[in-house]
Amino acid sequence: MKAKLYKSPKSNGGKPEPLNLQVYRIEGDLVELLFYPRQIDLRVGETLTLQERDTGRSVIAQVIAFRSASYPSLVQEQMDNLLGPEPLDAPLLEAIGFRMFVENGGNGRSLELGNIKVALAKIRKTVPAEGGRWEGWDGWIPARDADIFRTRDEEVFANATRDLGYPVNLGWTLGGHSFQVEGQDLEKVNVITGVKGSGKSHLAKVILLQLIELGAPCLVFDINREYIHLPKAEIDTRTGEVLQRGIVHLEAGGNFRLGVRQFGLAPLMTMLQRYGLPEVSALHLENRLARLWEEAEAMEREGRSVPYMGLEQLIQMAEEHEFGGGSSATVINHAIRSRLDALKNTHIFARSASEAASLGKAYRQVRGGGALVIDMSSLSNLAREGFVQAIIELVKDLCVWEIEHDTHRFPFIFFEEAHLYVSRHSIDYIVTRARHLGITSFFVTNMIHGLDEAVLRQADNLFLLRIPFEDDVRHVSRGAATDYETMAAFVRRLRQRHALAIGNVTAQYPLIFSVDPLEGVNTAGETRYFFRNGF
Ligand SMILES: Nc1ncnc2c1ncn2[C@@H]1O[C@H](COP(=O)(O)OP(=O)(O)O)[C@@H](O)[C@H]1O
Ligand SMILES: [Mg+2]
Repeated sequence: MKAKLYKSPKSNGGKPEPLNLQVYRIEGDLVELLFYPRQIDLRVGETLTLQERDTGRSVIAQVIAFRSASYPSLVQEQMDNLLGPEPLDAPLLEAIGFRMFVENGGNGRSLELGNIKVALAKIRKTVPAEGGRWEGWDGWIPARDADIFRTRDEEVFANATRDLGYPVNLGWTLGGHSFQVEGQDLEKVNVITGVKGSGKSHLAKVILLQLIELGAPCLVFDINREYIHLPKAEIDTRTGEVLQRGIVHLEAGGNFRLGVRQFGLAPLMTMLQRYGLPEVSALHLENRLARLWEEAEAMEREGRSVPYMGLEQLIQMAEEHEFGGGSSATVINHAIRSRLDALKNTHIFARSASEAASLGKAYRQVRGGGALVIDMSSLSNLAREGFVQAIIELVKDLCVWEIEHDTHRFPFIFFEEAHLYVSRHSIDYIVTRARHLGITSFFVTNMIHGLDEAVLRQADNLFLLRIPFEDDVRHVSRGAATDYETMAAFVRRLRQRHALAIGNVTAQYPLIFSVDPLEGVNTAGETRYFFRNGF
């Protein structure tokens, strides 16, 4: 491309060079800009400043789409301006809507014109003439002869992100700067969603590793064994001192089983009912267990030791018809017994006191930074659901302890493939109590429709990977602080390894970034293949 075809860029007093873009028209909050793609490499998601030359006032617009230019004659004139020299003066032809152009060594301008594109940008903010912070857009638009330049990343950061001293590095901006968000702005409710294979888990790992580095206690519900290979924590087994922050691998159904009492009555009853325990039997069991555990607590308060109560013991009680009497005792106890048997097969319950793990104890290993990765790969979906519900109850107790001691080391919890095991009830519980308890959660899921609208609305941040389906985009955009068009434009064709962040971390400004590839970190999952090398 010959440089002489372009207008020479004007210098602009320290500001970035204006780009050779022409405002074609502005309709509502949409600006149509003509540009020449071989000259300017614009990308969806890029932020542009349109500054009115006379007043210095600007609008901030974000590129949301491109299309090829079709050329009614008015546009032609503007396109000519982009390319340089005047068209041939041919008034007769012009009168009938044609223009003549100088042919340029066989590579004529009409050919170049054929490559001109239209960028659609959405006006989001306005900046006063004297500069400074972005303000909400009030409908003002610049006159057509505006200088248009790429908004510097520093300016975007200054207006969309904060730095309270807890930078979480997520990757790079489209402009190539490192992209950091403030850790505090990640707190409470986050949703990471996109289609399968779009990089949700990868992004979750990026965030997790950053949180660990910042000293945050994390908890991951891992169902594909894809977090267990992240750098391990090194802990001095003698002193319990953490020598190196990292992950602690807990195997649900293996080395990490819970005692029945620790599991909690509510999750236990939910599980039994999911196994089809009839209501009458459930009531009898619940009443009896509630009394039993009260007694146990009373004994503990008096310093007496309480005999271990595992599933075996409960099964024995059912055999002895201890749950409910009267004429239907046999039926009731039989129903209870068979469901307890089913529970036993989930392997999530400890068989003895010594086998019962303590979440509190495990938590201490990561309280100063680290992640408990709870590997649930060997559990059935039903077992996972009950197990997670129980863990959430235990986490609540941990949070209450942190609040009482004014230490505030609240956990960041990652729910991988949340749709498979986090019941709506549990999500509601977490979402509504998160602010009170201090818990931060990341729901990672490709089941976009499974995300309740209420959850989407309450979400503090959305991290969206590629979502090609309109339906899904529509659903997810109900929760975002931006319009459907922007969402659709940004995420339906989001490039590989890129994500869109919108929420508190970006002051509700939608930002596309390329996700840190985590080079040198083993992020692999453990997919088992039938057809493999050397088979
Ligand atoms: N930003 C990235 N850099 C490097 N590799 C990535 C990135 N994002 C995803 N991947 C890789 O792409 C594959 C799919 O990503 P994954 O996070 O598992 O997708 P999802 O969880 O959405 O199904 C994985 O092998 C992952 O390591
Ligand atoms: Mg995944």
